Amino acid sequence: MRFRISTAILLWWCIARHLCLSASESSINTSEDTLNFWRVANTRLLPVYAPLAEHIVTEYNLAEKKGIGIDLGSGPGNLIIELCKKTQRMQWINADINPNFFPLFLKEAEEAGVGHRVSAVHADAQVLPFENDYAEIIVSRGSFQFWDDKKLAFSEIYRVLKPGGIAFIGRGFSENLPVEIARKIRNQGKGPKYDVAKTANELQEIMQVLEINDYRILIPKPPGSEGVNYGIWLEFRKPVTKKHRLNNLKKEASKNSYREKNVYLYASDNTVVRDTRSHDVIAEPMLV
Ligand SMILES: C[S@@+](CC[C@H](N)C(=O)[O-])C[C@H]1O[C@@H](n2cnc3c(N)ncnc32)[C@H](O)[C@@H]1O
Repeated sequence: MRFRISTAILLWWCIARHLCLSASESSINTSEDTLNFWRVANTRLLPVYAPLAEHIVTEYNLAEKKGIGIDLGSGPGNLIIELCKKTQRMQWINADINPNFFPLFLKEAEEAGVGHRVSAVHADAQVLPFENDYAEIIVSRGSFQFWDDKKLAFSEIYRVLKPGGIAFIGRGFSENLPVEIARKIRNQGKGPKYDVAKTANELQEIMQVLEINDYRILIPKPPGSEGVNYGIWLEFRKPVTKKHRLNNLKKEASKNSYREKNVYLYASDNTVVRDTRSHDVIAEPMLV
């Protein structure tokens, strides 16, 4: 009897869970799910990505920056393609647990003319396949709610960030998404139902446990957006420690001494006309 009741409860839980999850919210595992979410991302959610990329690039001064950016759980990669268009010198990695998205993503990046600045890596947020201090920025939209062990995932993100690097992780929309578009998106789909305040508490607790002090939780509420859920975002930074600062200074110093040793200006008869070792580097070797 007891066995029957527990089986019934388990069965009920499985059915309820299945019914609760829509294409945009379920964990996307099969190639059919992949195609379904790809469609959602390229129709209903499509207007979300360009403003979100604009927000990220402006807020974190990425337009002229060089380095690696990771979009964790990027799926179809729409956000990365928009980020590429707005950052001329950064390389972006689509790190997702579902590699079924990658062929379409890489094809679209190629078609958008940014194929040479993107890559795709099969990655679980909880065990990131990147070395320490690797990325300038890690962004993620609509994925963290699927991470089983969020504490572990956030500690991995922290580990992979460069000192001075930034994480911007959340779900929903950026504040600059026009309210009428946000309202339309929310009215069109079943839309994710979750408690923003509860999520804020959960994220705050994780930051406290991980002893990450430099963080902000952002709940966008642009004027006129009453009744429209814009979602929730967590921003945190990895501080630059004294050790990292000293290492960077050392690196800089060795670069300069190498350059200084090599900077001479030559005339066409090969005689040295100016030795710039005691000056700022003003030209590359052999350039007159
Ligand atoms: C709802 S989709 C969001 C996709 C994309 N960020 C967007 O906004 O269009 C969730 C994504 O998170 C990925 N994902 C789920 N769990 C993950 C994990 N543990 N590690 C990495 N990615 C994960 C899924 O494969 C999927 O691509």
